[in-house]
Amino acid sequence: MALFSAPRGTQDILPEDQPYWRHIQERIHYIAQLYGYQQLDTPIFEATALFKRGVGETTDIVEKEMYSFLDKGGDSITLRPEFTAGVVRAYLEHGMHVRPQPVKVYSIGPCFRYERPQAGRYRQHHQFNVEAIGEQDPAVDLEVMSVAWHLYEDLGFKGLSFQVNSIGCPKCRPEFLKVLVEYYQGHVDDICDDCRRRLKRNPLRLLDCKAERCQPIIDGAPSMREYLCDECAEHFQTLLGYLDALGRPYTVSHRLVRGLDYYTKTVFEVWAEGIGAQNAVCGGGRYDGLAEVLGGPPTPGVGFASGLERIVLTMKHQGIEVPALPSPQVMIAPLSQQTKVMAMKLAGDLRTAGIGALTSFGDRSLKAQLRQANRQGMAYTLIIGENEAESGQVTVRDMARGEQHSIALEEVTSWLSQRLM
Ligand code: HAM
Repeated sequence: MALFSAPRGTQDILPEDQPYWRHIQERIHYIAQLYGYQQLDTPIFEATALFKRGVGETTDIVEKEMYSFLDKGGDSITLRPEFTAGVVRAYLEHGMHVRPQPVKVYSIGPCFRYERPQAGRYRQHHQFNVEAIGEQDPAVDLEVMSVAWHLYEDLGFKGLSFQVNSIGCPKCRPEFLKVLVEYYQGHVDDICDDCRRRLKRNPLRLLDCKAERCQPIIDGAPSMREYLCDECAEHFQTLLGYLDALGRPYTVSHRLVRGLDYYTKTVFEVWAEGIGAQNAVCGGGRYDGLAEVLGGPPTPGVGFASGLERIVLTMKHQGIEVPALPSPQVMIAPLSQQTKVMAMKLAGDLRTAGIGALTSFGDRSLKAQLRQANRQGMAYTLIIGENEAESGQVTVRDMARGEQHSIALEEVTSWLSQRLM
């Protein structure tokens, strides 16, 4: 029978990769707390209608990528493809508008998109998601962008830059879309099939087509920036002024439109050296109309999400090292069945005292046990033979030096504490 493998586009995070994941998550919790963001966990699945309405019927995510199914009660359920819709749902459901605004929350967890798997693109990926809901000041846009920047700098990323754009609001965007569609109608024969579809269903997405034949057309396309209403233009100018004042490198890109329909005004991504434009390490923006689309009162919001797999990939690509995870430094090697119980008891006492300890299993010779202790990088092996057991002693072997001496059983814990902590 053929062995099972993990479903396409998913991956096991093996023990040797866990130091990256642990380190990244520790830094996320630390940095979120520095900026006053509190953790919010939402369910991994939500009502399908939440994403259809929130993310948008004509987006790739809703059209092609959702893991949706009917549950046993006949309700249509979707594994979350992203966090924002669920977080805004939770904000409205729990009446968070009565809390000090903006409500600043972050989440970490898996998201699911039926995409074509490739490096940095998976069907199950994990996001660090940040949202600030209830305030329209462009200083909040800057703050969420700073959280992302701070994290990547803290992790040691090189070659960071922001891509920013404003995609306007329901007041000014329709006029721009009209001009954009007119422009593209003059180029229908030159564009790719996807773009012909986009022209009808979601013209803003024409601007981030990656097909080669569409690039010259995008280059010549009108830019949203020239059509922004006064409010959107001022918001964008203020944000760019803040980025200048803080010396953050950024590029204003009229191609940056993002793939989710809820965005208004600011959109941004962070690119890092080595993983390229197709693989933004994070993306986000403002979504001032989302709460209303979900049936709530008008409530501005802004946030971003960063894929943890892409953070790990970037760290590996850039050769960034992470601290090893703590592991036991002490192996207890009983030399007979009789002393095994004593070994298990001693291991228990050490662990209670906060000293990690392994016992060896099976019936191995001392030589084999020492070899294993070496391979596992133990600092000390405690050898318990019949003689030691009778005299209430253990033999301590310093693995690096190869030296041994006896020590009274009741002194082992304090002796090791002094050396290992
Ligand atoms: P997004 O750009 O679709 O935005 O995803 C955010 C980030 O998640 C991406 O920049 C990337 O790092 C990671 N990501 C997305 N899809 C995949 C995938 N298939 N495999 C690996 N990593 C992936 C959102 O999801 C918005 N909800 C972000 C947001 C929050 N906007 C406002 N608030």
